[in-house]
Amino acid sequence: MHLDFEYAIMSESLKDKIDALRQQALALQANNAADLEALRQKYLSKKGEVSQLFDLFRTFPKEEKAQWGAPLNQLKQLYETRINELREAVTAHCASSTVSLDLTRTPDPVSMGSRHPLSLVREQIIDIFSRIGFTVADGPEVEDDQHVFGMLNFAPEHPARDMQDTFFVEKEEGVQKPTDILLRTHTSSVQTRALTAWAKSGEPSLRILCPGRVFRNEAISARAHCFFHQVEGLYVAKDVSFADLRQTLLYFAKEMFGADTQIRLRPSYFPFTEPSAEMDISCDLCGGKGCAFCKGTGWVEILGCGMVDPNVLESCGIDSKVYSGYAFGMGVERIANLKYRVKDLRLFSENDLRFLQQFESC
Ligand code: PHE
Repeated sequence: MHLDFEYAIMSESLKDKIDALRQQALALQANNAADLEALRQKYLSKKGEVSQLFDLFRTFPKEEKAQWGAPLNQLKQLYETRINELREAVTAHCASSTVSLDLTRTPDPVSMGSRHPLSLVREQIIDIFSRIGFTVADGPEVEDDQHVFGMLNFAPEHPARDMQDTFFVEKEEGVQKPTDILLRTHTSSVQTRALTAWAKSGEPSLRILCPGRVFRNEAISARAHCFFHQVEGLYVAKDVSFADLRQTLLYFAKEMFGADTQIRLRPSYFPFTEPSAEMDISCDLCGGKGCAFCKGTGWVEILGCGMVDPNVLESCGIDSKVYSGYAFGMGVERIANLKYRVKDLRLFSENDLRFLQQFESC
């Protein structure tokens, strides 16, 4: 009777000790091999705290032992696992921090990164035009039909409005039919926004550049991509003439491609300009004599331009009898190609460091 009572007290205290040691196991810490050895000694050595519980357990009568064997073994295992985990962590840490300090060693080269060629060209274009009073205007890439086509004098059935050419945004998931929300196909959409705001401003003129990304539903190849970059320009005031446009573009061509560069304007068609033209520059590879790059013509095409169609001015709330303007638009990739002779358009968007590192470093 007396003994039973004593074992009951001992059982109670064994349970408390197991619980307490379980808690401690979770909080074990070790920074190095010495710490690990100290832990092993404290808990698992012959005189260690876990081993002492086994000693106590051994004094229990058989029927009491039955319920304590399993929890004690689990406790021992818990400590062994925990100490092993700590050992692995310590070993990994030591492996990574055993670098010998040699102050005379030449440092590893630091890769500083480089500017993307398209950023360089875009900034150069903006810099050239900002010197003659152009400021940068921005607008959304996801646009509505009105700003990309409607206000720019595109007829309702114009092929650019076809799903073959334009990415439309689905209104409801899985519904394929065209909506009036789309990815802009040119940054002329920024011009319609700017013109509408300017019409209400009372300012005497508007002179903006619209750089940005545009999207067209094209198969990706060396010569075409489903997105590319444009810089478009617009100048509206009283008495703006085609001669102003021509002189501005000649200035740009000489600044961008060198003082010897010549330009020529060929008649063309855009819904939003009248008259419209395409501009070529003299091929700087052959000096205009004709080579494989310019297909023997001595000229390479670089941009589209024209006088803003009166319908566009009117749709933006501007009196086309009082105001006139010119607009132009160029592909940044095209200009970069001429400058750097990049044969495959895909290189611009593939983030291959071997390609990118060839350009100006940061
Ligand atoms: N928006 C035209 C395009 O994307 C370029 C352009 C702009 C042409 C302005 C003429 C005038 O192709």
